[in-house]
Amino acid sequence: MSSIATKLPQLLKWIGNKQRFAQEIVEYMPEKIDTYFEPFLGSGAVLGELSNIKFNTLTPSTTYNQAIASDALNELIQIFEFVKKDLDTITDYYDRHITNYNDDKANSYLEIRERFNTTRNPLDFLLLTRTCYSGIIRFRKSDGYMSTPVGPHKPISPEEFRNRALYWHQILQDTIFLNTDYKQAMRMAGEGDLVYCDPPYTHSQTIIYGAQGFKIEELFKEIEECKKRGAKVMLSINGKRKSGKEDIGVIPPEGLFEREALVNCGISMINRLQRVGKTMDEEEVYDKLLLTW
Ligand SMILES: C[S@@+](CC[C@H](N)C(=O)[O-])C[C@H]1O[C@@H](n2cnc3c(N)ncnc32)[C@H](O)[C@@H]1O
Repeated sequence: MSSIATKLPQLLKWIGNKQRFAQEIVEYMPEKIDTYFEPFLGSGAVLGELSNIKFNTLTPSTTYNQAIASDALNELIQIFEFVKKDLDTITDYYDRHITNYNDDKANSYLEIRERFNTTRNPLDFLLLTRTCYSGIIRFRKSDGYMSTPVGPHKPISPEEFRNRALYWHQILQDTIFLNTDYKQAMRMAGEGDLVYCDPPYTHSQTIIYGAQGFKIEELFKEIEECKKRGAKVMLSINGKRKSGKEDIGVIPPEGLFEREALVNCGISMINRLQRVGKTMDEEEVYDKLLLTW
């Protein structure tokens, strides 16, 4: 693969994001993609990597004509819309609320969280992803209240955020963002298209938004339909842990996927969180990448 001029900086802090493995995942993609679909966008690490290659590499190893990025979480999609179309509004908002954030972190955070829970302003959602504990976006089941506590870290400076947002703004111009369920998005894919799925499904991710109601069998059905229409599909799913001794993967219907790859993820962030104080020796989580072609 040709080397990229600049490494893509993370726009959002997001638990379970694929930033560290995005390059490896992109390497499995076909050379030419008509429309690239990413129906479980999250922080968009894979879309970002693919777009970064397209715009900053002289001879991209893989490229697409257009991208359709979607997620069921409306406020998340709105953040990407701001980054794409209205950079000043989002960077000014970050500047205004983060400049003095550290003077009284605990209260500043609670103020942002309360405001978000009252108004559902996507700009406050951006602030929450950058300041909450470990980028865990957790909503209370009973009433949808975003309940994650404050993170102990110092959020990135307004100047740093401005630089990152500008970078993403430049590479996202030919991406269409949609707030929709993955099924609707996947039904648009056909011949020549690629769908990359990173669903909220693993045994350890039930704290992630959307994971509780998610049924992998329904996703398998949509993948099957995509395949029938001539679209290629890639699916990321948790592979193994405890140095390969315990398989935590799922078993897909026979014949649905043609190939699989293990992308080494090191130690899973979620496992680390749940096991504070316990030894992590021997634990290794792989991301399994399944391909329909
Ligand atoms: C594991 S995360 C994706 C992480 C992403 N690959 C990244 O690098 O940040 C799964 C995403 O699926 C979204 N999601 C959950 N249920 C969904 C559904 N039914 N339809 C579409 N998106 C959904 C969540 O909001 C979350 O952003």
